[in-house]
Amino acid sequence: MNILLLGGGGREHAIATKIAQSKRCSKLFIAPGNAGTAEVGENVKINPEDFAEVERFVLDNHVEMLVVGPEAPLVAGIADHFANTPALKNVMVVGPSRQGAMLEGSKDYAKAFMTRHKIPTAQYRTFTADTLKDGEAFLDTLKAPYVLKADGLAAGKGVLIEEDLATAKAHLRDMLAGQFGAASASVVIEEYLSGIELSVFVLTDGNHYLLLPSAKDYKRIGEGDTGLNTGGMGSISPVPFADKDFMKKVEDRIVKPTIRGLRDEKIDYHGFIFIGLMNCGGNPYVIEYNVRMGDPETESVFPRIKSDVVELFENTAKGTLDHCTLTVDSRTAACVMMVAGGYPGSYEKGKTISLGEDADDVLVFHCGTKRGNDGQLLTNGGRVICTTALAATLPEALMKSYNRATTIQWDGKYYRRDIGQDLLKMMIN
Ligand code: AMP
Ligand code: GLY
Repeated sequence: MNILLLGGGGREHAIATKIAQSKRCSKLFIAPGNAGTAEVGENVKINPEDFAEVERFVLDNHVEMLVVGPEAPLVAGIADHFANTPALKNVMVVGPSRQGAMLEGSKDYAKAFMTRHKIPTAQYRTFTADTLKDGEAFLDTLKAPYVLKADGLAAGKGVLIEEDLATAKAHLRDMLAGQFGAASASVVIEEYLSGIELSVFVLTDGNHYLLLPSAKDYKRIGEGDTGLNTGGMGSISPVPFADKDFMKKVEDRIVKPTIRGLRDEKIDYHGFIFIGLMNCGGNPYVIEYNVRMGDPETESVFPRIKSDVVELFENTAKGTLDHCTLTVDSRTAACVMMVAGGYPGSYEKGKTISLGEDADDVLVFHCGTKRGNDGQLLTNGGRVICTTALAATLPEALMKSYNRATTIQWDGKYYRRDIGQDLLKMMIN
C-alpha cells in the first residue's frame, strides 16, 4: 500500500526507515521530510497542518495509510478530518482523534483524566487570570521547587520549575498575562516529584495495546544535565532500571487504567501514547502524556522493533491490535544527537555536513538536514543529525555511537559527551 508519513525530524526518519523495510509498503511519502527520509521514500512539500493539502495529496496518490509523527496536526484534529470526510474514510490513520490528542494538548485535561482514572501523578490545581489570587495562595501551601505549566502546547517551553516562592508567583502572573499566548491562559501548578525520569511508549487501538521498548532521554543542552532544555540530546533504550517489577507497576497502575479510561470515555484513539514517567523510589508517577512518539527516543526505540511496523499500524487503525505480537531486539540502543552551535538559542543553518564512513550496527538519522542546489548535505535546524548504535551492552553501544558521531563534521557541531553515563553509574552501584 501507499503510505504518507507526516513530519520531518529524526523521529520521522527512524519511523520511515522501518516502514520502508516492510513488504506491505509499496510507496512511502514523507511530508515534508528531510534529506534522510528522501533516501527511504519520497519527500513531498506539504504542510502537515494544512488538511486540504494533505487531503488532495492522499486522494491524488492513492494513499491508504496516514501515519502522523508530530502532535500539532493531531491536536488540530487531522484524524477527525479523515474520519468525517467521505472520500478519506477508508484511509487508515495512525494517530488519535482531536479529543484523544487533548491528553497532550491540554495539561489540565490530562490531569483531570488521570484523576478520574486514579492514575498516579503529582497533586495539582489549575488557575486562570480570574483566579490568580487563589493560585498565589496555592503556591504558599506548596514546598519548593514550584512547578508551573502552561495548559496548552508551548513548543516544549511551557514548563517552569522555580526554587523561589516570590519568583514563582511572578512567573504565574506573567504566564496568565499571556507569556505563552493562549497556551498559558490556564496554568497548572503541581507538586514537585523527585526521582529519575523515563519514557514508556504504548501503541494502542483504543482497546488493546502493545508496550513498546522504554527509553531515557537527555533533555538539557549541557553535560551533567545542566543548562537550557532542548528537544533532546540523546536517548538510551532499554532503560536498565525499568526492570520487570517496575514495568509491572507501570502497566498495572498507569497503562491499563489509561487504556480503560479511553475506552470507557469513548475517546477514539488509534496511535501512540508516550508516557513521561518519574520513578519515585520505585513507584511510577505520570509527568505527562504525549500523543506521539518522542524525539530522540524513537531513534533508539524503533531500531529495536523487529516486527513489521506496517502490520502493527494496520491493526492499530483497524482495532485489531490483539492479533499482533511485538518482537524486540534484545540489544541496547544508544542515540547521540548532534546539534548546531548555539542551539537551543539562536543558531545558523546551511552549514555543509560531511557524513564520514558507515559503521556496522550504527544508524545515522537525519533531523534538521536538507540538500543544497548541488546536492550537498546542509544543516537545516537546531538538532541536525544523530547516530544510533545497537550492541549487546550499554558501554559497547555508547562507544560505537560516539565513534560514529566523531566522524560526522560541520562547522559549529556540538554534542554531549555524557549520554548514558548516569545509567552506567547506576548499574555499577
Ligand atoms: P513536561 O513538559 O510536563 O514533560 O515537563 C517538562 C519537564 O519538567 C519534565 O520532563 C520534567 O523533567 C520536569 N517536570 C515536569 N513536571 C514535574 C514535576 N511535577 N516534578 C518534577 N519535575 C517535573
Ligand atoms: N524527547 C521528548 C519529546 O519528544 O517530547
